[in-house]
Amino acid sequence: MRSSHLKLRNLRPALLVALLASVSPGLRAATPAEIEKKIDALIARMTIEEKLGQMSQKVFSDLSDKTKEEIRQGRWGSLYSGGTPAQKAEAQRIALKESRLGIPLIYAQDVIHGLTTTFPIPLGQAASWDPELVRQAARVAARETAAVGIHWTFSPMMDIARDPRWGRIAEGFGEDPQLASRMAAAMVRGYQGDSLDAPDSIAACAKHYVGYGAAEGGRDYNTTWIPENLLRDVYLAPFQAAREAGIATYMSAFNDLNGVPASANAFTLRQVLRDEWKFDGFVVSDYTAIAELIPHGHASDAADAALKGIRGGVAMEMVSTTYWDHGKALVASKQLDPKLLDGAVRDILRIKFRLGLFDAKGQFTPAPAAPPAAAALETARKLAAESVVLLKNQNGTLPLAQSIGKVAVIGPLADSPSDQLGTWAAGPADTAVTPLAALRETLGAARVAYAPGLKNSRDESHGGFAAAVEAARGADAVLLFLGEEASLSGEASSRAYLDLPGAQEALVNEVAQAGKPTIAVIMAGRPLTFHNVAAEAGAVLYAWHPGTMGGPAIADVILGKMAPSGKLPVTFPRTVGQVPIYYNHMGTGRPPAETGPGAEDKFRSKYLDVSFTPEYPFGFGLTYTTFAYGSPHLSAPRMRLGGSLTVSAEVANTGAVEADEIVQLYIRQLAASLTQPVRELKDFRRVHLKPGEKQTVEFTLKSSALAFHKGAQLVTEPGAFQVWIAPDSSAGTPGQFVLVP
Ligand code: NOJ
Repeated sequence: MRSSHLKLRNLRPALLVALLASVSPGLRAATPAEIEKKIDALIARMTIEEKLGQMSQKVFSDLSDKTKEEIRQGRWGSLYSGGTPAQKAEAQRIALKESRLGIPLIYAQDVIHGLTTTFPIPLGQAASWDPELVRQAARVAARETAAVGIHWTFSPMMDIARDPRWGRIAEGFGEDPQLASRMAAAMVRGYQGDSLDAPDSIAACAKHYVGYGAAEGGRDYNTTWIPENLLRDVYLAPFQAAREAGIATYMSAFNDLNGVPASANAFTLRQVLRDEWKFDGFVVSDYTAIAELIPHGHASDAADAALKGIRGGVAMEMVSTTYWDHGKALVASKQLDPKLLDGAVRDILRIKFRLGLFDAKGQFTPAPAAPPAAAALETARKLAAESVVLLKNQNGTLPLAQSIGKVAVIGPLADSPSDQLGTWAAGPADTAVTPLAALRETLGAARVAYAPGLKNSRDESHGGFAAAVEAARGADAVLLFLGEEASLSGEASSRAYLDLPGAQEALVNEVAQAGKPTIAVIMAGRPLTFHNVAAEAGAVLYAWHPGTMGGPAIADVILGKMAPSGKLPVTFPRTVGQVPIYYNHMGTGRPPAETGPGAEDKFRSKYLDVSFTPEYPFGFGLTYTTFAYGSPHLSAPRMRLGGSLTVSAEVANTGAVEADEIVQLYIRQLAASLTQPVRELKDFRRVHLKPGEKQTVEFTLKSSALAFHKGAQLVTEPGAFQVWIAPDSSAGTPGQFVLVP
């Protein structure tokens, strides 16, 4: 074995632990059966208080004598957010060495899109349509997180969202179950690595289970009503993909789901998650979600909330303390079956064992966060660049020639490090490189005239406009950095208007008077409506909140060092009045039409005052070249149930620049016992083509991919299907095949 030639004392502690674990039988990972035995032995010795303690999580706000004593008594199973590395080490030492049973704490944190290296917000990551790169970014996040002694992240968030008013759309992967499932699985694999107990692996948490993204009116924490077939086909799909990727934990959501709050919903938490998917990790509630069963109108008081949360299937209560306060009395009064407590504790301990917290990882000494490593920044730059979506590029406005004379950099998002990090930024803003800094670095400060025009995205004052116009007049091109500041998206940040806030549109109108080539770069946590701004600009780039390396990534795209390749993970409405608007909707009996006789017909499903089509469809994104798609070719006109077909199309780079293209496979079942969406994404692939190059892009479509739910039942119904290979959800000419029994 080659390791015998290595000098062990030269290895970093984390590497040493990994190496020893792999070669020494004494340190080998316990088998599942051994873990269950250890859990049995612990549970047999635990008091009811110790069990309820394991089921309780609090914010790590201090390490006072009181907290130390509580840890000694086994009052907490988990602490999250906060705590210095030294406090974490000390609290863990007390749990392991001074508590009666030596059960380790599990430390959690919201590491949503990176810890010290901040990657694009998850919605931006989804726009890359690059699961492998997303996995690599999560790997970086896991390494940085594990190094500071955190074992568990409350990520990925995989709530399907069809309503951009909802601020938390920023945290997820958009509107499509296929894209979200691929992204969710990639992130889980990135966080958890090959094995949970590896020194650089952390446990992932699929949230918010389930339906949270369907909040009525886009108002956060709001009610959801989702029929079972839609729940299973759309909202549960990414959670199932996360399960298949081996996720360790789930977080129960805040929303009421079909009349039973998601945090007490035995149908989703027990029947679907446990009985059907055979999940054996644990479920944590969202923040005070168990106590919130009372205002939801589902529990009469705190004791009832504890009863319903535990019975519902939530093993660990975050922040509120109903389990601790009432669990013992509920068992004594025989309302609560003590076996339910044992089950919850077993699931929690199982993950603690799998993480290796009883072994080396529990004793690991956390270090203060180190600055981002060069390789981490490189991954962040690549992912940020891939997440940028080119929405308009009239007459080749972009890319700018690197030899361009002078550029004017204008707008409230040009130089706002904390805003470009987006919601849930865990890392420091001072390592973020803004577009202004990156452009100055690349072009030289003398070629960049900076006039923000507005102090922040909500600024209504026109006081800075004159300087902005002057900068524009003196430049060869104008770069407008517009959008939303970070605090306008994320939790509790729903908006009823989707326009650019503040006086941004007025600023664009003024600056346009200079008559220079104008490029709008929009940085935001959601789809915004910016029709007039797009009309004024020659080119529009949608950059989301791109993270630490957003500036260099955007500069790379603007200056043509990298051709944009992002595609929209969510439909962009023309106006908020069209919401909800999403590509995979059902047909209507009176479908609207843009052309042909239907276009003149009033009695169609549309508006009097705005088109029924979106501003930009799901899957849309341009680049610096053009791609031509041939018609789809099917390997056979029929597919057998249980069989498959190959569908292929020739994709040609017909422009002058080499670039990536994300080729998308969609289907539609034309008639079924339950109507099916007008299009559904089934697969996608990133291809790279040089100018003039062609490639036949081939997908295998299995009949299992044509299945849908009728209630709980997954069915595949024979019949006719359309199939597209297309650059976005609204383009392409379909081929057709028949599924036969
Ligand atoms: C509430 C949020 O809904 C959830 O996403 C987050 O993980 C928890 N708070 C913990 O911070």
